Order: sequence, then C-alpha cells, then structure tokens
Amino acid sequence: MALYSEKVMDHFTNPRNVGTMEDADGVGEVGNARCGDIMKIYLKIENDVIVDVKFETFGCGSAIASSSMATEMIKGKPISEALALTNKAIAEALDGLPAHKMHCSVLAEEAIRAAIEDYETRSGKKPAVAVAEG
Ligand code: FES
Repeated sequence: MALYSEKVMDHFTNPRNVGTMEDADGVGEVGNARCGDIMKIYLKIENDVIVDVKFETFGCGSAIASSSMATEMIKGKPISEALALTNKAIAEALDGLPAHKMHCSVLAEEAIRAAIEDYETRSGKKPAVAVAEG
C-alpha cells in the first residue's frame, strides 16, 4: 500500500486556497515545536459564516494537504461547524494519514481555532474570562 493516499497527494501537489488575505477578519498562526512547521489561516467572516479562507503552510506535505483539505471543509460553513472540525475528520477526508503524520493534521485544526479566536477577540465576541479546560 502506498504511504500516502491519492487525496493526500492531490491536495499536496494541487493545494486549494493557498495565499494570504489582506482584509481577513481573523488570522491564526500555529507551529509544531518538534518539526518546526508553521501554518497560518486567514478567515473572511460574514454573519458568522466563513465566506472565504486562505492558508500558508511552511511545512511538510501532510501539513499542506491537511490545510488544503481543512480550508475546503470550512469554506461556506458557520463558525460553529469550523470550531467542531477535528484533525481526525481532516485526516479521514484525506483517506487517512500515516500514524506518525497525524500531528500534521492537528496543526490545521489548531490554526482554524486560532483564527476564529482572533476573529472573536477582534469583534468583541470572545468571553472576557477564558474557560479552563480539563
Ligand atoms: Fe511537521 Fe508534518 S512534519 S507538520
């Protein structure tokens, strides 16, 4: 079996929604300390719906494929749906990632969350007190 699915190869070689956005409503940047890869997501939001999304990924092929797929999955969707998107769902949409590459899809999930948080902070929608997790 090939290490990477056809979908991973497709999104890696022909990534969707690559680029930056000057008038983004939310920008999220996250990195993985171990591999040093960085992902940045830009969101355009209207009436709590993600009307446009762009990404820049300085990282491995799986990170590029994950961010490409993730942007396709949240485009046109309400913020609530984008917040619920898990790295597992991204990997599944790519027909799987090798186990040691699952962390690359985590970057996409985290970058989307960070961009939404940035949007909520900018628009004053974020609660003043952060809710402790766990
Ligand atoms: Fe770092 Fe894939 S190896 S994100």
